[in-house]
Amino acid sequence: MTSAGKTLRLGVAGLGTVGGGLLKLIERQAELRLPGKLEVVAVSARNKTRNRGVDISKFKWFDDPVELALSPDIDVVVELVGGSDGPAKRTVEAALRSGKAVVSANKALIAEHGMEIAALAEKHEAHLLFEAAVAGAIPIVRAVKNSLSGVIVSRVSGILNGTCNYILSEMLRTGAAYETVLAEAQRLGYAESDPFLDVSGGDAAHKVLILAAIAFGAQPDFAQVQVEGIDRIEAIDIALANKFDYRIKLVAEAFRANGSVRCRVAPVLVKSDHPLASVNGALNAVMVEGEPVGRLTFTGPGAGAGPTAAAVMGDLARLFEGPATPPLGKPSRNLAPLITAADGTTDQGSFFIGARLADKPGTFAALTEQLGDAGVSIDKLIQESAGDSGAAPIAILTHPCPRSAVETALARVAELKLTADTPRLLRIETRA
Ligand SMILES: NC(=O)c1ccc[n+]([C@@H]2O[C@H](COP(=O)([O-])OP(=O)(O)OC[C@H]3O[C@@H](n4cnc5c(N)ncnc54)[C@H](OP(=O)(O)O)[C@@H]3O)[C@@H](O)[C@H]2O)c1
Repeated sequence: MTSAGKTLRLGVAGLGTVGGGLLKLIERQAELRLPGKLEVVAVSARNKTRNRGVDISKFKWFDDPVELALSPDIDVVVELVGGSDGPAKRTVEAALRSGKAVVSANKALIAEHGMEIAALAEKHEAHLLFEAAVAGAIPIVRAVKNSLSGVIVSRVSGILNGTCNYILSEMLRTGAAYETVLAEAQRLGYAESDPFLDVSGGDAAHKVLILAAIAFGAQPDFAQVQVEGIDRIEAIDIALANKFDYRIKLVAEAFRANGSVRCRVAPVLVKSDHPLASVNGALNAVMVEGEPVGRLTFTGPGAGAGPTAAAVMGDLARLFEGPATPPLGKPSRNLAPLITAADGTTDQGSFFIGARLADKPGTFAALTEQLGDAGVSIDKLIQESAGDSGAAPIAILTHPCPRSAVETALARVAELKLTADTPRLLRIETRA
């Protein structure tokens, strides 16, 4: 049975960037192609008097979003508060327990409590939809969950954090230092005042874990994701990688390996003609690979009021189509504990090393000797002028070798104080 032609009564919890954007889009629903009508009945936020850019006086106000979720006047709770725990989780749980549909943009909640929340939704046969939680306006959750159910997925990867992509793109474009570009990103609204979750890779990890759960029928388990951020990348690393015709991108990926699924986020070198290399600024991109389709690539805006509200709206439109299906694709009881912690020591590949040499004679030869002793062979290298600092920037690309060998060499380099800073060790993506 569908609800087409009916009116769904919404309670919107959270009226910030996304909540405000959603209220504005709902005002324009006559221009959309919804199967029925949406009526906002109630709202909740912390501050009742803050100007939201839309008139909220006509809606019932709740100080407590859990009270909103329990209101009998509401069919659907739209959770746009955020945070993995606290009021967002309590609101979603209260709504699901009372059999109400939930639409949320909250990746932290789904990534960290996906199993229990999905099980709760299934128990109460309630909708739990979260398209906006991954890659903003790119309709990737529904694509992987439904449209691509006929694909045996081998890998899902992409650029899932617009803040990091903006910072890395700007560091390449301007040559400015990480801190300078981060400050500019904050001024322009591309980065939060507390950017930790973004630049540490945590936000991309939440998103890739959600994709992994859906694409591989795996239980989301955040502790199993291997995460490295962009906060140690130097502008000189980006510039020297560029001289080798590589871009540095924060790549999030989930793939099958040795009978399990591995999930990781790290800054990676990709060749300039790789599909992710030309995804710049705050854009996101997702690549889905599998049999019998090969590779599909999706790009688009991954955040912001409009794009995220549009994704929420897509979920609201889905509610008219019929009864709830399991939030993570398969019923939660059938999800396999597939995701296992990566054993980085067994990683093979080619690597990039960026560093500044210590200002003393013979350091370059000593460094290459340490690499050779550890069995790491150099493919290419660049040494730049030391300038006034006396610490010459270098960049080395290795031939394929175990990551552990490079780490052994760099541990010796640190003991011998051969570099003026802590070297950056990045994987090179060799797949086209
Ligand atoms: N921003 C994006 O581009 C984007 C993209 C994708 C997904 N998301 C996700 O969407 C969600 C919302 O993000 P946002 O950027 O819109 O956040 P935001 O601008 O910080 O808005 C959060 C809203 O929640 C309200 N709130 C906070 N604590 C509350 C409480 N205890 N009770 C009631 N209301 C409370 C705030 O009220 P006040 O306004 O009164 O302070 C505010 O209206 C998050 O899960 C985020 O990860 C955001």
